Amino acid sequence: MTFTRQGCLLVIAVALASPVLAEGPDPVRGAELFPIRCVECHVITDGAEKKIGPSLKGLIGRTSGTLEGYDYSDAMKTAGIVWSEQTLKTYLVAPRKMVPGTKMNFNGLKRPGEVEDVVAYLLEAGT
Ligand code: HEC
Repeated sequence: MTFTRQGCLLVIAVALASPVLAEGPDPVRGAELFPIRCVECHVITDGAEKKIGPSLKGLIGRTSGTLEGYDYSDAMKTAGIVWSEQTLKTYLVAPRKMVPGTKMNFNGLKRPGEVEDVVAYLLEAGT
């Protein structure tokens, strides 16, 4: 494999400048982000408890829009997404892009590493 000198320097510069990216997904950091970015609208506890949004307990493996007792938008009910690491990463970066018409009023997790950390947390807490 051949790398240009500039390419190598760029890779090193990026690695030095972004320790967050270099470390990979971190559920502990995700657990810190969840209260800041999600708790306003979501609980992650058992039962029918809900806020503006549905409880995210049991989220992993659940089909979108199917938690009983929560009044979803038609968009979410018909989206037919099974929540997994992959689908959550796509959704949480740009919710309205993946589910146009969703009533989740959230622009998305845009900062580098943020979505990976939150999803790593959801994979542990949202089962
Ligand atoms: C301003 C309120 C609000 C914020 C902030 C918010 N959500 Fe939501 N979320 C909602 C609402 C409302 C819905 C239901 C959407 C619908 O029915 O279209 C929803 C739906 C969801 C769903 C689909 C659940 C299902 O049962 O299908 C997931 C997953 C989700 N949110 C994750 C998150 C995560 C993770 C965060 C934090 C990064 C977050 N949300 C931040 C309001 C919010």
